[in-house]
Amino acid sequence: MDVIGGADELSAVTDAARAAGDPVGLVPTMGALHDGHRALIRRAVEERASTVVSIFVNPRQFSDRDDLERYPRDEPRDLAICEELGVEVVWVPPVDEMYPPGTTASGPDPGPIGELFEGASRPGHFQGVLAAVHRLLEVTGECTAYFGEKDAQQLFVVRRMVATERLAAQIVACPTVREPDGLAMSSRNGLLSGDEREQAGCLFLGLSEAAALARGGETDAHVLRAAIAREVGATSLARLDYAEVVDDSTFLSIERLARGSPARAIVAARFPSARLIDNVALPEAAP
Ligand code: PAJ
Repeated sequence: MDVIGGADELSAVTDAARAAGDPVGLVPTMGALHDGHRALIRRAVEERASTVVSIFVNPRQFSDRDDLERYPRDEPRDLAICEELGVEVVWVPPVDEMYPPGTTASGPDPGPIGELFEGASRPGHFQGVLAAVHRLLEVTGECTAYFGEKDAQQLFVVRRMVATERLAAQIVACPTVREPDGLAMSSRNGLLSGDEREQAGCLFLGLSEAAALARGGETDAHVLRAAIAREVGATSLARLDYAEVVDDSTFLSIERLARGSPARAIVAARFPSARLIDNVALPEAAP
């Protein structure tokens, strides 16, 4: 496994792989790898001949300095995981390889959806995400890039960017990997105190409750949102940021589930030590 920092070096390696007929897989990460990342990497390694994992804690996507400083980092462990999973190349760029000095462009515009939900709570977040992902795709060249459904809104804005910019990338969505109590795996889970961790299952509990109601025929988004808010509100340490039901193809809020229009329940909550997000696809409304 090669561990490299230079953008030109990465382009040379992926160019050589493609020239040899090896399709390239890319798994963008911010490190502190957990089983959710592992699932993405495994899938890339299985499906593509040559897999690149990038590890870059992207300062542009953090609106809060404290959050950036507290973000967990463990490069030796991350590299050992990549090695064990059969990754070909790990790109660990210094900031000026990711964002070369002199290039002032802030990156592609996330569009109107970039202002909602995560974008409303974390101003500039999706601009930062897209700046990094755009650069990664540019340096890697033609590839299949693997993203988690855990960050459904991120997946949405990345797909939109790839389509509008006509980038040579195929985006693959991978299911959310969860802890036994349903908590979605996240690098931030390790920041939670014992009590917070015990209560953190409330996000998935609320989402599951909404999904169960939808399965039972409930189509009113207000009722589904209230069910999520109730589960989060029942804990002493979580503060609800938002609970919404969105159309899966537009990521806009909807008031009612409709047959033939896949929908998703999304939630964010703040604990004293970390802010958590999660989402589930909702079952289709009955005919
Ligand atoms: P990071 O949070 O490290 O996540 C990297 C990838 O892993 C993302 O596609 C994310 O959706 C996926 N992922 C995280 N937790 C997951 C889980 N429990 N199950 C399945 N997939 C999961 O997302 C980012 O980094 C950054 O925004 C990045 C795309 C790297 C741009 O900086």
